[in-house]
Amino acid sequence: MGRLLDDEAVGTIRLGDLTVRRLGYGAARLSTVGGVTPIAPDRGQAVAAVREAVARGVNFIDTAAYYGLGGSEEIIAEALHPYPPGLVIATKAGLGFFEPPPGDYDAIPRDGRPERIRAECEDSLRRLKREVIDLYQCHYNDPKVPYAETIGAFADLQREGKVREVAVSNVSVKQLRIAQSVCRIVSVQNRYNVGDREYEPLVEICGREGMVFLPWFPIMTAGTPAEAVLAEIAQARGATPRQVALAWLLQHAPHMLPIPGSAQASHVGQNIDAAWLRLDAEEMARLDAAAPPPAA
Ligand SMILES: NC(=O)c1ccc[n+]([C@@H]2O[C@H](COP(=O)([O-])OP(=O)(O)OC[C@H]3O[C@@H](n4cnc5c(N)ncnc54)[C@H](OP(=O)(O)O)[C@@H]3O)[C@@H](O)[C@H]2O)c1
Repeated sequence: MGRLLDDEAVGTIRLGDLTVRRLGYGAARLSTVGGVTPIAPDRGQAVAAVREAVARGVNFIDTAAYYGLGGSEEIIAEALHPYPPGLVIATKAGLGFFEPPPGDYDAIPRDGRPERIRAECEDSLRRLKREVIDLYQCHYNDPKVPYAETIGAFADLQREGKVREVAVSNVSVKQLRIAQSVCRIVSVQNRYNVGDREYEPLVEICGREGMVFLPWFPIMTAGTPAEAVLAEIAQARGATPRQVALAWLLQHAPHMLPIPGSAQASHVGQNIDAAWLRLDAEEMARLDAAAPPPAA
């Protein structure tokens, strides 16, 4: 067992009224039903991976009804229920239940009808074996439904006590503003890593307005302009490029909550070990310059 991620290692962060350690676990790969979502080699390995995250001190798990078409939520419950105190589970709604073939992201069916969000909430509560969803994120906007109506369903569920905090994912600034006009939004989850900073403007807005930013694909840096610098720094520090990528995220902004995903317990452990890697100013500057964000 590696070092324990306590409240000091990376600090804690507030998602509205919830407080979690600032390094989470992404549960997209906890599934054996695949398609666009990659799958775990087998269920036992998936169960072991999420147990490892919690055993090492992670107390924030990000999943979605869509991952494995309910399978990720079921595996989380199988692995961890009855849940340890303080464990925060974030899930998402807003997609239909159909997995297109690998890579065909445009074919992911969006479904933001309010009745669908309500039904998904009930299904997620049942699969997760929970009474309340801690953080409920709108997975994507559905162009067929006004975004305010979709977010309105999340807000209604919050008023009814089925959801603690509401959040959004895969948003533009304009969509975030629409969501904020409906209810309090505590976090934004968009694609982001040291080599892919298209959504830096949203990172900045979150920082200014007290929201958390959850970068998805936090360690998918292969093939990005940051790949070579990550490898050089990793070699010099006796770390892995993924650990350097996580350390950069943690140091880049105090409201950043990385959620690296893995279906392998040993990889989960390596990712958590990044909590103790501190990059110096020169290393940070080199990484900052590797893939500069779009001009404001
Ligand atoms: N909101 C959205 O639309 C959206 C989209 C994508 C993802 N997400 C969220 O973001 C989380 C993270 O994204 P992600 O899992 O797609 O990407 P990621 O965390 O950046 O990378 C995961 C990939 O890296 C591998 N990996 C992880 N740790 C490793 C290690 N230490 N050594 C070697 N390989 C390692 C994993 O394979 P192994 O399993 O073999 O380790 C997997 O292929 C997801 O779990 C999900 O919660 C959200």
